Amino acid sequence: MIVAVDGPTASGKGTIARALAAHFGLPVLDTGLLYRAVGYQTQLDHGDPDDADDALAACDFPDSLLNDPALRYESTGSLASRVSIHPAVRAALFQRQVDFANQPGGAVLDGRDIGTVIAPHADAKLFVTATPEERARRRHAEMLGRGVEVTYDAVLADIHARDARDTGRTDAPLRRAADALLLDNTTLDRDAGIMAAIAFVEDKV
Ligand code: C5P
Repeated sequence: MIVAVDGPTASGKGTIARALAAHFGLPVLDTGLLYRAVGYQTQLDHGDPDDADDALAACDFPDSLLNDPALRYESTGSLASRVSIHPAVRAALFQRQVDFANQPGGAVLDGRDIGTVIAPHADAKLFVTATPEERARRRHAEMLGRGVEVTYDAVLADIHARDARDTGRTDAPLRRAADALLLDNTTLDRDAGIMAAIAFVEDKV
């Protein structure tokens, strides 16, 4: 069973993907981490994330980088959304994601293009979203909880910028697959979103 979970930044798709994986006993891959590693490695190499060659060179990042807490920084998310525009970067990360999706027994993957590009044959596809304001409110609260000093307006501006890059790029833009369930998280709490996702996947298998 392959489960594809896509959606914009801070929509709660990672939480839902992890909950589905735990419920169905499947391995889970947060594909955003791969793009974050490329963005961060580009910076470590003093490269330019907007330059396709610099970003492609960073696709050779060591696996140990995937455990680096710096990948979780907001600034790394922005770097990721810049390097992920380059088709060569997407091509370099493609096979790793396809292999994870197609492993025996199945998998859950979350990202932007899982249901459209990486696993168009997935058994269940979800597109998790919420309004930019609600996503900013949650991300802002979470950052304050971690002691990061940031304003709501700055978080909202970053979310708008990342949405524009993710939906506006020509290669594998963020969009809902025609056969994906639209799960609007705006007014759902965490558990209600997870329950709806589990019910949908259970129905598909
Ligand atoms: O999901 P996360 O916010 O960690 O992803 C960081 C960035 O990586 C996204 O804004 C997006 O530009 C890029 N990404 C992508 N395709 C994926 C996953 C992430 O382009 N499958």
